[in-house]
Amino acid sequence: MQTVTAFPDLRAARAQLLEPVGLVPTMGYLHEGHLSLVRRARTECASVVASIFVNPTQFGPGEDLAAYPRDLPSDQRLLESEGVDLVWTPTPEVMYPEGFQTWVTVEEVTQPLEGARRPGHFRGVTTIVAKLFNGVLPQRAYFGQKDAQQARVIQQMTRDLNFPIQIVVCPIVREADGLAMSSRNTYLDPDERRAATVLHHALTQAQAAFDSGERDANVLRAIVTRIVGEEPLAALQYVSCAHPETLEELETIAGDRALLSMAVYVGKTRKTRLIDNVVLDSDAQGL
Ligand code: PAF
Repeated sequence: MQTVTAFPDLRAARAQLLEPVGLVPTMGYLHEGHLSLVRRARTECASVVASIFVNPTQFGPGEDLAAYPRDLPSDQRLLESEGVDLVWTPTPEVMYPEGFQTWVTVEEVTQPLEGARRPGHFRGVTTIVAKLFNGVLPQRAYFGQKDAQQARVIQQMTRDLNFPIQIVVCPIVREADGLAMSSRNTYLDPDERRAATVLHHALTQAQAAFDSGERDANVLRAIVTRIVGEEPLAALQYVSCAHPETLEELETIAGDRALLSMAVYVGKTRKTRLIDNVVLDSDAQGL
């Protein structure tokens, strides 16, 4: 496994790779969720490239850029053991050299949900993902369903800018108690870690109501609101029951599917913001 940082080294290493090439973009501090993307890429592609870059432009002021966990040696060991061919670890200077002034902005699907609460976040994501695509030139790129809106935004960007890349969205990987895997789970102390299971619990209860025939989006949102409200260490930022493509809020789930998603602050003094979601699907096909 080779590790490169600068663009010329990336291009030279990329030229040696057998195609199709699969790209797994990450911000490092890898867990089983990331590794599930790598494993899927390994089964579908002749070569696998992973990128590790904590992208400063997708963090807002007051967010956790400085605290974001990092462990490059451990990440490299994990990627090597999963058979990754090439790791790209650009620095902020490589990605945003002096004079940088070009941004990629997706319009409508970035407006609600995370976009409404994290101004500028998706502009940072789409700009860096476009640069990762242009650097690696993969045939496939792998993203997690946990960041459901991010996956939808990247699909839109890929289509609109004609990147010849297939976007593969992989299922959420959960801990045994249901908590969705996230690098940010490391911020939680034991009490908070227990409280954080409320996200999955709330989604599961709403899913059960949907499976029993409930199609009123307000009722589903109310189930999530009530269950999160019962956990003293959790504060709901939003719950959404939206069309899975447009991400517009629904009154009634008239079609087959809806994206039920949420953001919750967990903690006593220092609050950790966690997100989770489920695709309500009467045909149970997922996204
Ligand atoms: O999901 C992430 O880890 C990041 O948003 C991504 C896609 C690697 C872009 O920085």
